[in-house]
Formats: sequence, structure tokens, C-alpha cells
Amino acid sequence: MSTYTHGHHATVLSSHQWRTVENSAAHLLPHLVPGASVLDVGCGPGTITAGIAERVAPGRVVGVDAAEAVLDEAARAARERGATNVEFAVADVHALEYADDSFDVVHAHQVLQHVPDPVGALREMRRVCRPGGVVAVREADFGGMIWYPNPPGMDDWLRVYYPVARGNGGEPDAGRRLVAWARAAGFADVAASSSSWCYATPEEREWWSESWGGRMVRSHVAETAVAGGHATREELAAIYAGWKEWAADDAGWFSVTHGEIICVA
Ligand SMILES: C[S@@+](CC[C@H](N)C(=O)[O-])C[C@H]1O[C@@H](n2cnc3c(N)ncnc32)[C@H](O)[C@@H]1O
Repeated sequence: MSTYTHGHHATVLSSHQWRTVENSAAHLLPHLVPGASVLDVGCGPGTITAGIAERVAPGRVVGVDAAEAVLDEAARAARERGATNVEFAVADVHALEYADDSFDVVHAHQVLQHVPDPVGALREMRRVCRPGGVVAVREADFGGMIWYPNPPGMDDWLRVYYPVARGNGGEPDAGRRLVAWARAAGFADVAASSSSWCYATPEEREWWSESWGGRMVRSHVAETAVAGGHATREELAAIYAGWKEWAADDAGWFSVTHGEIICVA
């Protein structure tokens, strides 16, 4: 099983827990009909999974993740929303322990960019999806991240992030590759789209800079960057300071482009 680049530090979870079906899986909404069974692969803290469960109830929803610890958060998110049609389990997307044709919908959000074999992962997602069901994926594309202003320090974060993610077997420019990966996995019917997140209010800037700037000094990313010789602690501190300067600027704006695919199994 691969190493998840970010780990599940609070700086990382705060970004994942903001996510909803509406802001992170809008391309999937037409397929979330009552009664549909859904597998959410790499569900993390499960806020998207809980939203899926609400929409497809009484359909069965299963959230799986390679990291057991984060599944407690996921179960809590589901309980808080009163979702009773959802369960969680540990699983590796490369080897899912479900029979062929088990689900109507198999979904992954921000997972394939972290795994060493995204094409194999898509094949496995297809195997557990019933014929005629859909496999849906959305991935950020780090080359499609743009922001303003660009204070000294902050402009260095991608220089550090790319080798850290790739050193763990991931591909930060995943969004643009989804169609290619789906074709390589054998899907003939692939509908592609893109959508973005935008952070510009003072609250959004504070939260996003703490999540990403904070991640560069206090998470698994920071440890790996230093251990791999990609940055010193001082350089990481300068990146964090740059993020905070960006957040403090009233003109601050940040956009994250994503690739999305809906594949018919
Ligand atoms: C960026 S998080 C996304 C979480 C959630 N889908 C969301 O968008 O809020 C990526 C998740 O994928 C999980 N993951 C990484 N590699 C995995 C693998 N091989 N199989 C299953 N899950 C994996 C990580 O543990 C992490 O929780």
C-alpha cells in the first residue's frame, strides 16, 4: 500500500472536512439517486461520504480508506448527520475486497493523485462497479493552481511539494491525466469536465493558508520534505510566512483547478 503524502494532521483534515458533495462532487450529483449503492474510495474524514449517503438513502454506502485512524472521524461525521445507511472499512484501492459488480456508483475524490498505480486503481474500481454503473473521479491539478499576490516564500511551495508527492509515488498534475488513465483502464465511455475551488474571503484565506502553509511546517509533508532534502526547516518556515502574508492581503485570491471524469462501467 502506498504512503499517503499528507498524513492526517489537523492542518490536512481541516481542508478535507470542509468538503461537501456540492462543492467537491457536483459532477456526480445526477447519479446520486435514492436507492443507489455507492462505494466511496479513499473517503478520508467522510464529509463527502455522509452527503452521498443522505442523497441515496436508503441505498447502501460504504466509505473505505487505507488509513484506519481517519475512519473514526468519518463515522463521527456520518453520525452527526444522522446517516444510518453508511458504513466504513479499511481497504486499499488497488485490491478492494468486494465481489465483482457490487455497487451502482464507485467514487474517488483526491485519491488517485496519491497512489502509485492510478490505472490499476481505476480497473479495480471498475471491477466492483456493476455493468452500466458509473465510476466517478475528481482530482486537483497542481499545475492548475493560480493565486495572487505571490509573496516571497509562498512561491516556493510547489517546488517543494512536487518532489515530495512524486517521491511517494503520487502525481500532483493528476486532473489533466484522468481521461488518459480511464482510457488505459479500459473505459470506452468517459465524460470529462473540470471545476474549481476559489478562496478569496478573509475567512477562506485564513483557513486555506493555515491548511497549506501549516501543512508545509507541521505535517507529514514537512517531515518528508526535510528527510528527502527538498527543503530545510528554515525554507519551510519561509514558505509558511509567505502563505500568511498572502492570507493577510485583502486582494488575496486562490483558485484550484480540478479534472473530473464520469466513466460508464
Ligand atoms: C486527499 S484525501 C481525500 C479524502 C476524501 N476523499 C475527501 O476528498 O475529503 C486522500 C485519502 O486517500 C486515502 N488513500 C491514500 N492511498 C490510498 C489507497 N491506496 N487506498 C485507499 N485509500 C487511500 C488517504 O488515506 C486519504 O484519506
